[in-house]
Amino acid sequence: MDILGIDIGGSGIKGAVVDAESGELKTKRQRIPTPDPSTPRAVTGAVTHLVDSFSWVGPMGCTFPAVIRNGIVCTAANVDDSWIGTDATALFERATGCPASIINDADAAGIAEMVFGAGRDQPGVVLMLTLGTGIGSALFVDGHLAPNTELGHIEIDGHDAESRAASSARKREELSWEQWGLRLNRYFQAIEFLLSPDLFIVGGGVSKKSEKFLRHIDVRAPMVVAQMRNHAGLIGGAMAAHALIQGGAEAELDPVHLFER
Ligand code: BGC
Repeated sequence: MDILGIDIGGSGIKGAVVDAESGELKTKRQRIPTPDPSTPRAVTGAVTHLVDSFSWVGPMGCTFPAVIRNGIVCTAANVDDSWIGTDATALFERATGCPASIINDADAAGIAEMVFGAGRDQPGVVLMLTLGTGIGSALFVDGHLAPNTELGHIEIDGHDAESRAASSARKREELSWEQWGLRLNRYFQAIEFLLSPDLFIVGGGVSKKSEKFLRHIDVRAPMVVAQMRNHAGLIGGAMAAHALIQGGAEAELDPVHLFER
């Protein structure tokens, strides 16, 4: 089934039509900058613009960089505070006329990686961390997602971890790869101590340059780079929408098992 995937991030909004069963992109990916300020009105305008640019009339699967419960945005670390309490599903459906589903961006990327990428057939505790404007997390136990984990916000040395270790911190503070790698090491070690995952998957745009920073990270669990790179969010968003259509609200956040062959 074809679904329009829309991946809303702190810096960019990306869209592409996705074959939700194979994970393949059916169109070129389009990207527009996230409006600043990223109010519900401005972001909805950008989403509508993307939908129109694909002349899309079918279902869409959206991701959003916040805790999402039943379509409601519950936090706003890297988007305008006025999102808190907003029913994003209703907003996007009203504006575009397309049935919508919405889940956390890192959860979406994790779902795509678990089915088609680096986490395929991986049992046990798998933790995907996305390094971007913020740090997103997606935690799986035997392929089941524990949604909305927000592990980018653990406190380390008195700081919100993502404020020092996200990819945006490297750029903002003009850190060398080594300086940033050492911060990431502190972060990954703290997470490993708390959760003892069997596998870490590292995602986000910067994972393209993993050779520059992974060597500074010393953890026990194997660490692999996400395979779907910048497409993971789009694809996972579309997969969640597909699962919602096929299996109802309970399936939306647990699509991995729908794909078991
Ligand atoms: C947000 C998460 C999001 C992550 C990556 C964090 O600041 O709190 O919900 O998944 O950034 O975008």
